[in-house]
Amino acid sequence: MSNDLGIDWEAYLSRTRWFGGKGRPFRVGSVTQLAELAGDDADLRATVYLVTVDYTDEEGGSEQYQVPLSSYDEPQDRIAYAFVGSAASGSAVRHVYDGVHDRDAMALWLEGLVAAEETGSADRDGLRFRRVPGTTLSPALVSSPLTGEQSNSSVRFDDTAIMKVFRKVSPGVNPDIEIHEVLTRGGSADIAALYGWVEIDLPDGGLLQLAMIQEFLRTATDGFELATGSVRMVMADLELEVEDSGGDFAGEATRLGEALAAVHAMLRDSFPSERRNSGATGELAASMVARLEQAARIVPEIEPYCERLRDAYSALARLDDLEVQRLHGDLHLGQTLRTTDGWKIVDFEGEPGRPFGERVLPDSRWRDVAGMLRSFDYAARVVELGIPAVDEAEAALRAQRAREWSARARRHFLEGYVASLGSSAGSEEERRILLDAYVADKAVYEAVYEKRNRPTWIGIPLAALERIGTR
Ligand SMILES: Nc1ncnc2c1ncn2[C@@H]1O[C@H](COP(=O)(O)OP(=O)(O)O)[C@@H](O)[C@H]1O
Ligand SMILES: [Mg+2]
Repeated sequence: MSNDLGIDWEAYLSRTRWFGGKGRPFRVGSVTQLAELAGDDADLRATVYLVTVDYTDEEGGSEQYQVPLSSYDEPQDRIAYAFVGSAASGSAVRHVYDGVHDRDAMALWLEGLVAAEETGSADRDGLRFRRVPGTTLSPALVSSPLTGEQSNSSVRFDDTAIMKVFRKVSPGVNPDIEIHEVLTRGGSADIAALYGWVEIDLPDGGLLQLAMIQEFLRTATDGFELATGSVRMVMADLELEVEDSGGDFAGEATRLGEALAAVHAMLRDSFPSERRNSGATGELAASMVARLEQAARIVPEIEPYCERLRDAYSALARLDDLEVQRLHGDLHLGQTLRTTDGWKIVDFEGEPGRPFGERVLPDSRWRDVAGMLRSFDYAARVVELGIPAVDEAEAALRAQRAREWSARARRHFLEGYVASLGSSAGSEEERRILLDAYVADKAVYEAVYEKRNRPTWIGIPLAALERIGTR
């Protein structure tokens, strides 16, 4: 169905938090109505649109976004802040709002999920609602949208459940749903349990997964915030050693390492995994070298480290086997939550920007580990760089404490991880080679990103590159 709402889609997308194409020239190519949920309130229409965005710059390409909207005959003051536009519909005027912010619209999604409870699946108004057995959801739960920066849109239902409405969508199984289902059925204690999801069959036979609902972790603290809070405690009294400062993260890091090891073990047993021969390490090393060469053209500051980085990649190429398995794929402290019941890992959607087909390919678990190691470094340095320097001596001591905090957190994270993996962790030498290569590759990527976006932070990845191969 065409867009009968008369909405200025380009303007609307540009002002949302989740639209990924901000700053690039684009056109909305098509707007398709996927479904319309009907409730008791005859005035409310909760509609789900699929919006195709075509980029008109040299890079080009297109993306599809899910846009749930609700519309009413009468203006709705309660959600005035989520107003999208008003449009003539026949002889009447419809007032249109962001559906994620409309608790009456979200209640219709919840009703569908409740209806699926007994049989695991319910078709309603063009959508298919799916449930994982073992939980009960009350239709009386009231929704409120989360306000943090995120690429999707999450809505919590009281303090019971949280539903993530995927924004940028593409056909096929969403890795976030797929992995959460497998880990939930496996009884993992290191994630928020999946309760269900919402999907639709496309006219061409494809599948589009639109949203997932899971356990709301009510005692959760964001891992990156917890880490930076610890660093701030270290910075509050620079005379104290990290261990004595009250800001030591060693224990937390150990437990986070254990949680990741448990998740990796379950992923390895639940999805295809394999051992690859030396051809695979050679190919992997070659791709890292290629990324290094490309990065060096953009970030000349990398040059002094290139030789040692190449050595690290050559060592990788000489390894004669590589174990690969399903991963998180985009792991950093911002994808972890610390609860009173331990660490939980969230957001298994994988590396944003890569197609689903690539994100599910098995890869070395050390890629996830390297992501976390880099994140500890960022937590320390971001706090350090955010404090104005009083004099040089203080700045030097602060830098030293940041390095110590990060080194301790990284070491304990790794120890917790390796101890939990047991015999499958491989030899220490092999581990060091794999980790060095993955950490280097990640820091090279960061250097390009910082050079382009946050030049004052370029020292963060450069310091990591300096450490490669120096032990
Ligand atoms: N199960 C949960 N319970 C409580 N808060 C959560 C839960 N899952 C995610 N969050 C919060 O929502 C944020 C965004 O979730 P995430 O799955 O990472 O979404 P996105 O794909 O948009 O990055 C997280 O950083 C966390 O603060
Ligand atoms: Mg996330």
